[in-house]
Amino acid sequence: MSVYTASTTAPVNIATLKYWGKRDKTLNLPTNSSISVTLSQKDLRTLTSAACSETFKEDRLWLNGKEESLSSERTRACLGDLKKLRSELEAADASLPKLSTYGLHIVSENNFPTAAGLASSAAGFAALVVAIAKLYKLPQDMSELSKIARKGSGSACRSLFGGYVAWEMGDQTDGEDSKAVEVAPLGHWPGMKAAILVVSDDKKDTPSTSGMQLTVATSDLFQHRIKDLVPKRFVEMKESILNKDFPTFAELTMKDSNSFHAVCLDSYPPIFYLNDTSKKIIKLIHKLNELEGEVIAAYTFDAGPNAVVYYEEKNESKVLGFLYKVFHQVEGWKKQEVPSTLNFEFDDQLYKGVSKVILTEIGPGPQETEESLVNELGLPK
Ligand code: PMV
Repeated sequence: MSVYTASTTAPVNIATLKYWGKRDKTLNLPTNSSISVTLSQKDLRTLTSAACSETFKEDRLWLNGKEESLSSERTRACLGDLKKLRSELEAADASLPKLSTYGLHIVSENNFPTAAGLASSAAGFAALVVAIAKLYKLPQDMSELSKIARKGSGSACRSLFGGYVAWEMGDQTDGEDSKAVEVAPLGHWPGMKAAILVVSDDKKDTPSTSGMQLTVATSDLFQHRIKDLVPKRFVEMKESILNKDFPTFAELTMKDSNSFHAVCLDSYPPIFYLNDTSKKIIKLIHKLNELEGEVIAAYTFDAGPNAVVYYEEKNESKVLGFLYKVFHQVEGWKKQEVPSTLNFEFDDQLYKGVSKVILTEIGPGPQETEESLVNELGLPK
């Protein structure tokens, strides 16, 4: 009995121009284009192994050591597309083993706790699609595969590339032109760093899909956002990345995060993802930029209270020293942080709202790996 296997890792990405709103819920087609930075897999990544064999009766999935049901329509849509592409290869070349008819075993693990509240679905779906594409020896490039990952989770399509990535919304109803493309590779502007402030929060607000649906259906501001703001910002942000113009990139990033949370608040009933700690972090970053006399740090928040602060390596001691002064009691610092000598007032209890800092940086796309999560029988090790 032969067991075929393949493994890959895939990164997390954090949008600097947010995707919010679907024009097609099944295909995950967005109402606007978006841009993101791919983060280093040293700190945040999903490792996925895929295996198939004639003897496997059904498709099975294990996430972080636990078998999960494969009933989710999103996952089924990805598997269906990948099997279809494989069956086309098999139809064209009769000598190929009929992998598309075999059961699939998928084993996946994150190197960070899911409880941290960081979007793991992007890395998860990207890794799933790339691992199976490798197993099936599919010739499709990353942009083509991104359309499959998109059906799993919209933002996942951007995790197929490293560096600076755009998701072009497209306008076709079948989604064939709604895909991720590289804006600039990692090496173009490698000094981009990110400090993630994991904000403690017991209860989650609305999940992203229902939140988006509510915003599209009820927010008046939303039309202004997708028609007048985002298309212009999309062009300007790409330009700022190509020019390595941090102040412009940072301002656009902060404004777009605020605009996204504004349309959430403008939904009816309103959706709140930012909490008091998040809002105080926003104020702090503006204070830092004001005291420095230039924009050296940018915050952005997804559908939750965690802050991601982007900055350039050349300003690391200024940005981290500033944050260290406020949050030094929190775990996750590298040893050498020196508190800033800047004088500013801050809430000395604010650190209590943050459970952890994750210091990371821009990183590459999915990586081939020798590491495997399955044994010779195609079961989790
Ligand atoms: O891909 P989803 O359904 O997890 O939605 C992601 C939405 C945001 O994280 C808020 C924005 C984005 O572009 O990633």
